[in-house]
Parts: sequence; structure tokens; C-alpha cells
Amino acid sequence: MKVRLSNGEEIPIEMHKIRIVQSVRLIPASDRLKAIEKAGYNTFLLRSRDIFIDLLTDSGTNAMSDNQLGAMMVADDAYAGGESFYKLAEAVKDILGFDYVLPTHQGRAAEHLIAKVFIKPGDIIPMNYHFTTTKAHFELAGGEVVEIYTDEALKVKSDYLFKGNIDIDKLRELIKKHGSEKIPLVRIEATTNLIGGQPFSLDNLKELRKVCDEHNILLVMDGTLIAENSYLLQQRIEEFKNRSIAEIVKETARYPDILYISGRKDSSSKGGIIATNRKDLYEKIKPWLPLYEGFLTYGGMSNREVEAMAVGLREMVDPAVAGSTIEQIRYFVTKVDKMGIPVVTPPGGLACHIDAIQFLPHVSRTEYPAGALVAALYIASGVRAMERGTISMDRDKEGNEVFADLELARLAIPRRVYTISHIDYTIDRIGWLYNHRDLIKGLKFVEEPPVLRFFFGTLEPLENWGKKLCEAFQSDFGPEL
Ligand code: F0G
Repeated sequence: MKVRLSNGEEIPIEMHKIRIVQSVRLIPASDRLKAIEKAGYNTFLLRSRDIFIDLLTDSGTNAMSDNQLGAMMVADDAYAGGESFYKLAEAVKDILGFDYVLPTHQGRAAEHLIAKVFIKPGDIIPMNYHFTTTKAHFELAGGEVVEIYTDEALKVKSDYLFKGNIDIDKLRELIKKHGSEKIPLVRIEATTNLIGGQPFSLDNLKELRKVCDEHNILLVMDGTLIAENSYLLQQRIEEFKNRSIAEIVKETARYPDILYISGRKDSSSKGGIIATNRKDLYEKIKPWLPLYEGFLTYGGMSNREVEAMAVGLREMVDPAVAGSTIEQIRYFVTKVDKMGIPVVTPPGGLACHIDAIQFLPHVSRTEYPAGALVAALYIASGVRAMERGTISMDRDKEGNEVFADLELARLAIPRRVYTISHIDYTIDRIGWLYNHRDLIKGLKFVEEPPVLRFFFGTLEPLENWGKKLCEAFQSDFGPEL
């Protein structure tokens, strides 16, 4: 949530008090340089103890509430028929409106099951934008992912409020070209991750539903960030100003045939779910659940996690939770934007996304500017961000580099974990880095895995720029604390 100060400025305000804390440390810049070298300039391979502020992801890193922790203590650890599952099923019904729910160990496991059951070789799967694990699963099943975003979606600086929308005309053309029998489903992602945490509108969703009905195509929603999408709709659409987040979430969930969720984000828990009101679809997926995930009533989660998710789903529609990150992101993005640093606008959910192409115009796309930028940020601050650019794309079948549409350094904000001073510190170091951006050069792969290479790939800096950046930082700052 936000509050207006007497000078008119709006600042994010935390609607909670912090009662359990975990210490972090800021190691010296010279040690940060050693740590990133050891990690092969890949922030995924850093050790948590060497990180000051961890903005790698908001997945599984959110603060849990007292009620979630309390619920975990009363989990019913039955293999089958555990009471915890029924609490989850009730929460799914109350909050999202679905009768059937299949728990999974996390979001990508839901994607795996959906791909396994609904996608066959040669299929086309249109979507507003891919997510890394979605694309990998859908392609492994033999499908081809086709992104049908609107013209505004990939513009870094924009005031278009619904960059997550699907271009309905493009969808119609695709159906005309391939025939609906080649398109088993259309996927729409809430608060679309890889284009900068941008929402879709409800009008767009309704139109999409209409087209899917006309052609008998399933509509599948990735609702991992459905509460954030709903909060953004409440902020941006006049008719939603007086409607609660709970109402908007439920309204959004009315349209898809299948909704799947990674429980690690909006519901501040772990695990995932696939939910539907169609018994036929439920019955198709159900037999595979015990094989790949676990029995129907735990699906690969511990029952404690099932309990935490049940409570987390109810809590995520509280505006103090749904808006907790969004208001921090708005503060973050607005300040960085004012400094003239290229950042994705309008501020959305999930993260602050810096455009590495404009930040590092001298680094070629083949030398991974977004990867270089997140490594540089770590050296200059101890803040861990995530590369969301070409390193996050895998090569094509011929081994050619596939350039990402956007080269982004993503600074994700976990829910209720960091304070405004953490964000102010990060903004300051981004500013320092921007003033010293000429020192940052590209990266090249040392070891490159064949799939989802961003997780385990190791790289090295061209012209040993990491060391030079570190020296410049030390001479400007001396001891930091
Ligand atoms: N869908 C979306 C939109 C996601 O953001 C994620 C995960 C997944 C599916 C997969 O879910 O991790 O539970 O298997 N996003 C994380 C991130 C990893 O950092 O953005 P999962």
C-alpha cells in the first residue's frame, strides 16, 4: 500500500511489523569480486552468504505471515486424504472459484503436466509472452511457442498500461493460418514476467475467451502473479477503483479453462496448483499426478507447504500483500527513471527492470549486456539481480544464438522482505554504476549447458573489466559501512 506525505509525495507503506529477522552482511568489494569470479559471472551461482540484498527473484523468497507459520504447525502429514489438502481446496474455491485442484511441487511441474496432457508434436501454442520454464516444457512436448503480444509490449519506455495484453487480431490470423486443431490451447500470463511484470486487462481477457470459444481452444492462464495483476487493474481502471482485490482476482479467474499457479510468488509459499472447473480436463491430468508429483492430496509438496499455501492464497488478496511489492517497485522505478537511467515503464509488478542495451550501448548483444550488468551491480553493491536477456534464451537447434527481445537486468522484490532503505541503497549504487558504465564490458561463455543455460552456465569478463570496476569502486567509496 502507499501513503501520501504532507509534501504530497506518495511512499510505499508497510502494513505489517517485522518480528523475526535474518541477518545479512555486506562483504567488501574485493571479496564480492572474488565471489562473482568463483560464480563464473553468473549470479545464480553465488552463495547467499555473500549477498547483501537478494533481488534475484520473488520466488520462494517472500516473508511468511504469522498465520502461515501457525498453519504449518497443524499440518496433517497423511500420505493420502490429509486435511491440509482440503483446506487448500477450500481456499482455491473461495479465492479463485475453482472446484477441482491438483497440487504440484512447483509452477513448472504444473506446466509439465499441462504440456504432457495437452500438447503434441507440431502443435502451436500462442501466448502473450513465454516464461523460460513454460517454453522449455511446451517445446519438449513438441509444441511451438508463438508470442502474440501487442505493439507496445516490448517498448522499454511506454505509458501503455496493459503491455501484457494479447493481440487478438494476431491470434485470429494464427488460427486462420494453422487451423484450430493445431492449437490446443492459448496461454495468457498475469503480470507478464519477461516483458517487465506487465499486466493484461480484463477486456482483453474477455475478448480472448470469446475467440477461444469460437474455435474450441482451451484458455490456460498462468496466474502466478494474479493478485499483482489485479492490484494493477484496481490502480489503472476507473471502474475497478472501488472493487476489492479479492473481487478482481475472482473475476480474472472466471475466464480460463485452466489456471495454474506457482505458489512461490503471490501466495508467499511453495508448491503450485492446477485448477479448473471442467471435470473432463481434471480427469485427464489427474492420472499423471502421482507419477510425476505425488498423490492427489499433496502433489509433491510437504503438507506444511500445502497449509502455508492455503493461508497464502487467502492473504494474497489483501491489498497490503498484493500491493506490497508493487508500491515498492513504483517507488524504485520512478526514482531510477528520474535519474535518466533506462528502465521499463510503466512500473509493473515483480521487479524493477533495467534495459541493458541502453545502459551499456558499447556492449554488443553477442557479449550479453544484461549478464554483464547484473555481475557489475553485484560487484558495486552486493545486490543480486537476475539476467533476463539473451543468456536466458537457449541457442536454436543449429546452435545459433537467439537474441532475446529485451536485454533486462531484473531486480525482483520479494514480498515484505526489504525496506525502503534497502531500495534507496540499491538505487544509489545503480546510479554510481551508470556514471561508470564505460568500465563495464561484455562476457563470454566458459561453460554453456544445452538447456536453460542461465542456471548453470559460467562466463568470464572480456578485458578483465570486473577487476577495473572493483578498483574504481574502492577508490570512490573506501570502507562502505
Ligand atoms: N510461471 C511464471 C510466470 C513464473 O514467474 C514462474 C517462475 C513459473 C511459471 C515457474 O514456477 O518456479 O514455481 O517452477 N518464476 C521464477 C522467477 C522462477 O524468478 O521469475 P516455479
